[in-house]
Amino acid sequence: MSSADAPSRLLVRDLAQAVTPAGAESPLRGADLGRVDVVQDAYVLCDAGRIAEVGLMTELGALEGDVEELDGRGLCALPGLVDCHTHACFAGDRAGEFELRARGASYEELHAAGGGILSTVEATRGAGEETLHAAVRRHRDWMLHAGTTTFEAKSGYGLDRETELASLRAIRDEGGIPTWLGAHAVPPECDSADAYLDFALAEVLPEAAQLAEAADVFLERGAFDRNQAKRYLEACRDAGLALRLHGDQFSELGAIPLAVELAARSVDHLEATGDQAVRALAHSDVVGVLLPVAALVLGRPMPPARALVDAGAAVALATDFNPGSAFCESLPLVTSLACTQLGLSPGEALGAVTVNSAHVVGRGDRIGRLAPGYDADFVLLDAPDWRHLAYHVGGEVVNAVIRSGRLEWQR
Ligand code: NIG
Ligand code: FE
Repeated sequence: MSSADAPSRLLVRDLAQAVTPAGAESPLRGADLGRVDVVQDAYVLCDAGRIAEVGLMTELGALEGDVEELDGRGLCALPGLVDCHTHACFAGDRAGEFELRARGASYEELHAAGGGILSTVEATRGAGEETLHAAVRRHRDWMLHAGTTTFEAKSGYGLDRETELASLRAIRDEGGIPTWLGAHAVPPECDSADAYLDFALAEVLPEAAQLAEAADVFLERGAFDRNQAKRYLEACRDAGLALRLHGDQFSELGAIPLAVELAARSVDHLEATGDQAVRALAHSDVVGVLLPVAALVLGRPMPPARALVDAGAAVALATDFNPGSAFCESLPLVTSLACTQLGLSPGEALGAVTVNSAHVVGRGDRIGRLAPGYDADFVLLDAPDWRHLAYHVGGEVVNAVIRSGRLEWQR
């Protein structure tokens, strides 16, 4: 049967568990973040791309008409994972830099010496649009096989008009949610960060704003300072983009107060965040996006996840997939790190890679939960208990991925 003729209903039956985090109109905070509903011996019925029912097998009624069936024995259904922070559009690799860092060089030293991000900029500028499409497709498929059904991806390895716009088109056309990271680094042809921003805001923003949903800036020494970040973000906001920031990765330069002032959707990284900023974030609507793989790979302190959650902040988790600080597409591995390095429970980690990440990408009403009315995007874990998502460290824990009510991939 061709997919055009396939019945629009899909029944996944005899599941060990069907699991969803709690839901809310806004991101989950405090005790709500860890709340998980588990149905044992369950089924999930999808209709026309949405979840129609989640229930007990013993209560499954007779279904009239065509329904495709999938055997869920020994598997757990949980919402498709949402990766709200990736840099999936780039060419080349940085395996050589990885070795230099393994031998003791620091990420910031390599960046200051023109390596790091700028070496990926050189490779990406030379790649051509078709190569960028192929790169995003390849990375998207890696993510899908790790259970990611929705991904955001940033430009930021072009830093010229042509390559930034080509990156945003590649991300959009390959199914990602594009973010214009026009302020990622100062490219070599510009004398200063201010001169680069003059160019980017005048020449790139007008079209970038038509392609992207959000804008992002790297607020860090050696990249953009607070005033430059503010100027960039205000211009992007005025052009209709939602706002994100890379902040407090190496140094605390006021990213959280700026994110709160500008009502950004998120501030991401937070490895260097201190107590006062934890409290400021907790009292705001800005989501703190934690990226433990980058902290692990660069040997940095982990972000203060426990303090943030306990103070009432909304946190999400993401891979930060990129060729430098986090060449890792696996959100299951991120949840393992959350439970072993960040002091979060499996339920908190699940909420942070589903509901809360969905809010960061502006889709909290449609994705991130396995509940009637939500998009039928979910994963089947090869496990009798949903906590294997985090417990099976680095394992091939995802058995199958369903998107829009259709089986998209099975191991
Ligand atoms: O989020 N910190 C800035 N940007 C990326 C890394 C990009 C790279 O190293 O290529 C990050 O870690
Ligand atoms: Fe990043």
